[in-house]
Amino acid sequence: MSRTKVITFANNKGGSGKTTTTSNIGAAMARLGKRVLLVDGDMQMNLTLSFFDEERSLALAEGDKNIYTAIREERDLSDFVIPTGIENLDIIPSSSLMSGIEFDLFTKWQRELILKKCISPILARGYYDYVLIDAPPTLGGWVMNIMCAADYVIIPVEASPWGLFGLANMFDFINKVRSIAPRLEVLGIAITKADERKSYFKQTLETLREFEAARLFETYIRVDATVEWAQDNSQPVVTYKKYSRSAVEYTKLAKEIMKYADR
Ligand SMILES: Nc1ncnc2c1ncn2[C@@H]1O[C@H](COP(=O)(O)OP(=O)(O)OP(=O)(O)O)[C@@H](O)[C@H]1O
Ligand SMILES: [Mg+2]
Repeated sequence: MSRTKVITFANNKGGSGKTTTTSNIGAAMARLGKRVLLVDGDMQMNLTLSFFDEERSLALAEGDKNIYTAIREERDLSDFVIPTGIENLDIIPSSSLMSGIEFDLFTKWQRELILKKCISPILARGYYDYVLIDAPPTLGGWVMNIMCAADYVIIPVEASPWGLFGLANMFDFINKVRSIAPRLEVLGIAITKADERKSYFKQTLETLREFEAARLFETYIRVDATVEWAQDNSQPVVTYKKYSRSAVEYTKLAKEIMKYADR
């Protein structure tokens, strides 16, 4: 039995594709036979909404089966896992109450390590091959918790004119986290929403290929309306349209991620 790998998808730049990448990489890994747990770490609840309709998502958020209750009460995360309906793929939902998490963390002892402590019984059991955590577009105490609980960070970057803006802040932050979690590794940067016809796509690609701080995954995800249709139907595109271009791309990226994470 190999160790459970914890990977967070993080970028303080909003709309860079974190949630879409988390849900689809998770679904692709599950379809490849891996056991995967997703954790929705964002008050926007977009990862939760990727699998459940609004009514069900809000019911989960208002009940106590969500990450907010787990962290506030410092509980074992095993009690907050629910099935997504896709084989091998489970999730811990979020809640809009996550907007208050920074305040709740502030008064806690060893406040950077609460998530790490709460997730440790799941890791000790070793049931999952991967835990994938969707981070919010911020760099504060909660994202610090997420990174301290993770083995790897993957940075989704949107191939847009402002896509690279703020990336330096992200690396500064990761270096600060390393003073508490020295083994945290940036597994790579994944380009999302690529449009090969646009000149800024080529610029993004060239800049990131030469970037020394982290590897660029070879597979990039092109912009594809099917991704949004799938989200509108509360499903990852990998299960909604298995043979679509983006489903193929996400599966290829998942294989690339697993290759590096399992070294
Ligand atoms: N490959 C793609 N093709 C088309 N649209 C996409 C693709 N990937 C993501 N999107 C769309 O881009 C928007 C932003 O994506 P997403 O929510 O995954 O980003 P995010 O980084 O999680 O955002 P936030 O910072 O708000 O959490 C969404 O509307 C999503 O549907
Ligand atoms: Mg998101």
